[in-house]
Amino acid sequence: MGNFLAGKVVAVTGAGRGIGRAVALAAAAEGARVVVNDYGVSVDGVSPTSEVAEGVVKEIEAAGGEAVAVADDVSTMAGGQRVVDAAVSAYGRIDGVVCVAGILRERMLFNMTEEEWDPVVATHLKGTFTVFRAASAVMRKQGAGTLIGFTSGNHQGSVSQANYSAAKGGVISLVRSAALGLHRYGVTANAVAPVARTRMSAGVPTELAEMGEPEDVAALVVYLLSDPAREHGVTGQVYTVAGAKIAVWAQPRELRSAYADGSWTPERIAEVLPGSVGVDPMPMLERVEAMRRAAAEGSRPNA
Ligand SMILES: NC(=O)c1ccc[n+]([C@@H]2O[C@H](COP(=O)([O-])OP(=O)(O)OC[C@H]3O[C@@H](n4cnc5c(N)ncnc54)[C@H](O)[C@@H]3O)[C@@H](O)[C@H]2O)c1
Repeated sequence: MGNFLAGKVVAVTGAGRGIGRAVALAAAAEGARVVVNDYGVSVDGVSPTSEVAEGVVKEIEAAGGEAVAVADDVSTMAGGQRVVDAAVSAYGRIDGVVCVAGILRERMLFNMTEEEWDPVVATHLKGTFTVFRAASAVMRKQGAGTLIGFTSGNHQGSVSQANYSAAKGGVISLVRSAALGLHRYGVTANAVAPVARTRMSAGVPTELAEMGEPEDVAALVVYLLSDPAREHGVTGQVYTVAGAKIAVWAQPRELRSAYADGSWTPERIAEVLPGSVGVDPMPMLERVEAMRRAAAEGSRPNA
């Protein structure tokens, strides 16, 4: 066992499988006491079972670590609160929360139902809010803590998962808001956009060059939870980790502007906007179009 997180108490949602499980095991191996939360559902979010969270607690204990299981649904306020309460009642504090829980309900926008939209947004976005909300109240009093949200490269847009993409974009804005609002209380907040082999990514084309393992993601999360990351002032960041690659995403910022001489009119905007403000081409759109052309020609480029 290492000691990167010695003495810390960390709660991980969606910790029963995939990336969350790897994060929980790695945090425990680095000395943290861990709350293992998992509702134990299928990829599309049904048929809950408490055995999934309990199984990871047993794995941590077998390796000599300390953990407690919480099998609640983090898309409810009570569920998010119980994750944090479990840490405080078992271990007396909460130093980090990692919100990994997620589900998928894929459908083209023009066919998407409310039953496909609401649970996906509730699990990813509200499920991050409920845990951040409960944890930040404790961390504010402690004067220290780390919040980590899970986003996706799909926050740039998705052909057939507008629900997931919108939720993941929301997670980034929630993380940046937490970083801004909690800075004065010594609490940091960051987001991780993983690419890793799990049941959730099983449908991703295998030629996707940058595919990693859950353990690669866990290493980055352990670093973000650690004192060295806090001492370097790492907050309000979005990191991608895909196997051997770690990258930081840009902060959203204005690209080009133009000012009206007086008030804008639609006619004046039509004259000025194309040449001066213009557009910022969408890389995902170019990629999707290239794949569509290649499919039409019977070949498929690397994504
Ligand atoms: N695997 C990838 O390549 C990839 C890429 C981009 C983003 N992500 C994100 O990383 C996170 C983990 O993904 P994964 O690939 O490990 O998925 P996974 O399906 O293996 O694990 C997700 C876990 O979340 C749990 N869960 C679902 N709803 C829950 C709820 N309401 N409350 C508590 N637990 C709940 C599930 O039971 C499951 O064990 C997700 O947020 C996902 O969107 C993954």
